[in-house]
Amino acid sequence: MKKWLTLIPLVGISLLSCEKLLPPTPADNEVLDGPMDGLSPTQLQIFLEGDEAFADIFSPQTGLGPIFVATSCAGCHVGDGKGHPFTTLTRFGNYTNGQFDHLLHLGGGQLQNRAIPGYTAETLPPEATGISRFTPPAVTGLGLLAAVPDETLLALADPDDVNEDGISGRVNYIHPPSFFIPSGWHYSDAQGRYIGRFGKKAAAVDLLHQTVNAYKQDMGITSDFDLQEPINYAVASHPTDPVADPELPAATVQSVVFYLRTLKAPVPRSQHDPQVAQGRQLFMDIQCGKCHVPTMKTGVSDIKALSEIEFHPYTDLLLHDMGAALDDGYTEGSAGTAEWRTPPLWGLGLSANAQGGSIFLLHDGRARSIEEAVLLHGGEAENSRNAFQQLSVQERNAIIQFLESL
Ligand code: HEC
Ligand code: HEC
Repeated sequence: MKKWLTLIPLVGISLLSCEKLLPPTPADNEVLDGPMDGLSPTQLQIFLEGDEAFADIFSPQTGLGPIFVATSCAGCHVGDGKGHPFTTLTRFGNYTNGQFDHLLHLGGGQLQNRAIPGYTAETLPPEATGISRFTPPAVTGLGLLAAVPDETLLALADPDDVNEDGISGRVNYIHPPSFFIPSGWHYSDAQGRYIGRFGKKAAAVDLLHQTVNAYKQDMGITSDFDLQEPINYAVASHPTDPVADPELPAATVQSVVFYLRTLKAPVPRSQHDPQVAQGRQLFMDIQCGKCHVPTMKTGVSDIKALSEIEFHPYTDLLLHDMGAALDDGYTEGSAGTAEWRTPPLWGLGLSANAQGGSIFLLHDGRARSIEEAVLLHGGEAENSRNAFQQLSVQERNAIIQFLESL
């Protein structure tokens, strides 16, 4: 059961009896999971169904595999926060002469490194040259990010760097899956591609797209939206698992999407601390806020609690060239191999709670501190990183303290 659900009974018991034996209950702004305010009782009910499905552990009897990476959504997105490197997954393809091939015929683009009994797990084929490791991001506040109209992203984008600030964010145009239903504000280009916004390369158009992919690629679970099992092409007979497809009904997938849409956004802390205020000012002064955009606003939404809300994610949801050090030679959609979608920085200070007491930042978790993550910024962020390096130790600490308060 989720922490926020246990709060009430725990408080009740502690007043009566073994108060000193119970661990201190974390404050509400220290916990990531939990619904946003303003949901109706019916909406809260669907949230709870989605919460349960998100934690559901699959077994070979319930359709896991035949090949897979993990057995539940919550197993990688622990407490809805960032994942530990243990839960990192691998994507691959072949990059030759500017052409990227996801090697679908060899089981790409995602490696399923585990298999149910009697089946063979995948290994990386020798053809794979572009290999990227993705550490799970936090999944809180995504409903707000999903409700920002495309026109906001297009207005932030500056693909040709017309304003000559060295920063040229752009959207990732992708061919959406057949089940994608565009809303009034979704924009498509002349080739019928839509703007991706979820995933490290912004390759998923919406939360349903991301969720259906996760069920299939991460756990080998088919659903009404996608009936195809992941298959190990290195095994001649291409066996699928014995459970009939679809292994999950559309309603369960939809409840998980609803859960993701209505998970509360991280709540900032220590906002009146003068060092935090100084850090925020410096963060904006050295252009960090050009990509990690502090404020966004949702459009009209079918969920009232998500409608026309101003919020503070510290992302522009755009792709940026981050330089050679972060170029894995792997890509998705129209993103370049060095391009990554700006990750939101809200919740950054709570990363360690979900990552086993340490932090693992950037797409593959390679940065072991906020400072290291910043120092690995290159490409479009090079000027900003240089400016960070020129700050005094006290000023750099103020920025870090500000980021830890988000
Ligand atoms: C093996 C670990 C793993 C499992 C299991 C897993 N995820 Fe993820 N999740 C990730 C990783 C890694 C990413 C980043 C993927 C990408 O960039 O495409 C991610 C990304 C996401 C995102 C996008 C977040 C963002 O900010 O763009 C959502 C939403 C999400 N997962 C939901 C789910 C759901 C729902 C399930 C279960 C159906 C699930 N995940 C299962 C590892 C996992
Ligand atoms: C050109 C756009 C851009 C600018 C400018 C920029 N960032 Fe980033 N930032 C990114 C992208 C993209 C990533 C993800 C890179 C990756 O995962 O490999 C990132 C990642 C991060 C992370 C790690 C987040 C996580 O969850 O792993 C931190 C912390 C961060 N940036 C802080 C800063 C600070 C502080 C500055 C100013 C000195 C700054 N950034 C300037 C685009 C930018």
